[in-house]
Amino acid sequence: MQSTTYNNIYTPLPSKPVSYSKTFLTELMVPAFANFDGRIHGGILLSLMDKVAIACAAKHTGSYCVTVSVDEVTFYQPIEVGDLVTLMASVNYVGNTSLVVGVKVEAENVKTGVKKHTNTTYFNLVAKDENGRLKQVPGLVLETMEDIRRFVESIIRKDLKLQHEVAFSTQTKSIDLLNEVQKLKKERCEIGFEL
Ligand SMILES: CC(C)(COP(=O)(O)OP(=O)(O)OC[C@H]1O[C@@H](n2cnc3c(N)ncnc32)[C@H](O)[C@@H]1OP(=O)(O)O)[C@@H](O)C(=O)NCCC(=O)NCCS
Repeated sequence: MQSTTYNNIYTPLPSKPVSYSKTFLTELMVPAFANFDGRIHGGILLSLMDKVAIACAAKHTGSYCVTVSVDEVTFYQPIEVGDLVTLMASVNYVGNTSLVVGVKVEAENVKTGVKKHTNTTYFNLVAKDENGRLKQVPGLVLETMEDIRRFVESIIRKDLKLQHEVAFSTQTKSIDLLNEVQKLKKERCEIGFEL
């Protein structure tokens, strides 16, 4: 069982249900958020996603949380000026001091009512105490099969990331750059200095 100690008194840290911290953020996409072609800057979306993920994590943990990393972000469809964007965040996984918050982004054309799912991204955060030290997070009560699926997928994602990090580090450690230069011949680059 997860626990925390205050003044040497053993106090269980109660788990919280996924539904307790589900967080929504809706924002109208104004011209100031746009590129020259009237589409929204990816960075604006990233900032909104970070904000909603931190709010959701803070609600679950009851403390200040910071973003450690963000898993791959792919925008499958552009978001236009005038769209109403809704970001939905929920805790997908909890570790000891860390948690994963999934953020789903939907853009709605207010005139037609047509909604498009632009992306879902996973934020890895940690909880901090008032002295900035890592703090244990409450356990998670999985209330639906969807909650179980998300928890299990987070474990798989975590394992795959670790495997990828190990493979990348092994492969790049033994890299022979002069040998790699030969392979670059089929790429769209050229060496602009004398080797
Ligand atoms: C995140 C941070 C605390 C990790 O420090 P550390 O000394 O490596 O701590 P640990 O190895 O004990 O990891 C702490 C937790 O973070 C998790 N973690 C660490 N690096 C991670 C990563 N790259 N991705 C996901 N989780 C990660 C660990 O799995 C661990 O989780 P657990 O307690 O649930 O098992 C530290 O790197 C940090 O403070 N970074 C700055 C975060 C920040 O300020 N963000 C705001 C943006 S400016």
